Amino acid sequence: MNITLKDGIDWVGYIDWTVRDFHGYKTESGSTYNAYLIRDEKTAVIDAVKAPYVEKYLDHIRALTDLSRIDYVVCNHAEPDHSGGLPSVMKACPQAELVCNAKCKEALEKHYDTAAWKWHVVEDGDTISLGRRTLSFINTPMVHWPESMFTYVPEEKLLFSMDAFGQHHASAFRFDDEEPLDVILQEAKAYYANIVMLYGRPIAQTMERAAQMEIEMIAPSHGVIWRSHIKEVFEAYQKYVVCKPVPKVVVLYATMWKATERMAEAILEGAQECNVEAQLFNVDSTHMTRIVTEVLDCATLAIGSPTLNNGIMPSMASVLCYMKGLRPTNKQGFAFGSYGWSKRGGPTEIGQAMEEMKIETMHEPIRAQYVPTPELLEECREAGRAMGKYAEQFAD
Ligand code: FEO
Repeated sequence: MNITLKDGIDWVGYIDWTVRDFHGYKTESGSTYNAYLIRDEKTAVIDAVKAPYVEKYLDHIRALTDLSRIDYVVCNHAEPDHSGGLPSVMKACPQAELVCNAKCKEALEKHYDTAAWKWHVVEDGDTISLGRRTLSFINTPMVHWPESMFTYVPEEKLLFSMDAFGQHHASAFRFDDEEPLDVILQEAKAYYANIVMLYGRPIAQTMERAAQMEIEMIAPSHGVIWRSHIKEVFEAYQKYVVCKPVPKVVVLYATMWKATERMAEAILEGAQECNVEAQLFNVDSTHMTRIVTEVLDCATLAIGSPTLNNGIMPSMASVLCYMKGLRPTNKQGFAFGSYGWSKRGGPTEIGQAMEEMKIETMHEPIRAQYVPTPELLEECREAGRAMGKYAEQFAD
C-alpha cells in the first residue's frame, strides 16, 4: 500500500473496513480516518483517529519515527472521529504541543481531560515553520463545525482539508487515481449530501479561498487523497454548494395499503414521459443516506405518505427529519398521499415540511380518500409530467 504523499509526508491513519453506521449515515463501503505525519527539522502529525483505533495509528507513526520526536499534533476538527484518540496521543508524545484554533481548544476541553496538554493556539493566517516546510492555518468555520480548520503546506502545495472533499470509503488505495473516478466522485457526493449539505454557503466561501492557493494535492480526513482529479472534485463541489439541479425527478413515498404507492407510481409514469431521469423510492426499502444523495441534485421532488392517526408514517417522518436537518435547496415539488377521514396528516403534514425546507410549491397537495380513482391517478400523472417538464430545462 502506497502511503507516501510527498518525500517525508506519510499517511498514518486507520482504515475502518467494517463501520456501517456513522451517526445515521449508512457507510456501505466503510470509511477511513486519515492522519498524516510530516518529518522535517520539526515533526508534526495532522489529526488523530477515532479513539478505538489510536494504537494502530501510533504504530503507524512509530514505524516512521520515535513518538518522543513529535513536536506538534495539529487538530483541524474536534469531532471525535478525528479527535477521539488525542488523549492517548498527547500522553504518548511528551514533547508535543496541540496545535488548534481557540474554538477548537474550547471544544476539546469540553470533550476530554486536557489539563496536562501543552497548547499552541493559532489564528487564521498563522504559520509554524517545520524547517524546509511551513504549516499555514486557515479557519473554515462551519465546514462543518465552528472550529473547523484547514492546514496548508505551501512548499508542497498540499492542503489538509479535514472533512471537506472527503468520502466515507474504505479501500486498500490511498489516492484518487488508483480507483475508478466515478466510484470516488459518487462517494464524495454521498458524503457531501449526508454530512455537509446544510453548510453550502460557508463551503462556497472556503472554496473561494482555496481557489487562491496553489494546490497539487488535497488530503482530506476521510477516503482517498486527491492528486490527479482535483479539478473534478472542485467542479463537483461548485455544483453541490448550490444543490445545482440536473434533469432529475425524485418521487419518495411511504405506503400503508398501497393507495399512496399507486399515486407515486402514477407521478413517476408522468415524469417518465419527459426527457429526464426519474427515480422512485419507497422510504421503507431505501435508506435515507441514498435518498438525500439523490435529492441533492434533483430538480423536482414529490413526497407522499398516507395519513396515520392524524400524522404521517413514522418511516417518512424519519426521512423528513433527516432531510430538514440537511436542508437541500434549489428544488420545486409537492406533497401527496391518501387519507381516510382526516385531512390533518399525510400530505398536509408533508406539505408543511416541504415549505419549512423552502422547497418551492409547484402543486397543491394531491389527496386520495382511501383509494385513488382513475381520475385522481391521471391528476398524479399530470403532476409528474409537470415535474418532468420543469426538470428538462436543466439539461446541459
Ligand atoms: Fe469526520 Fe466532522 O468529522
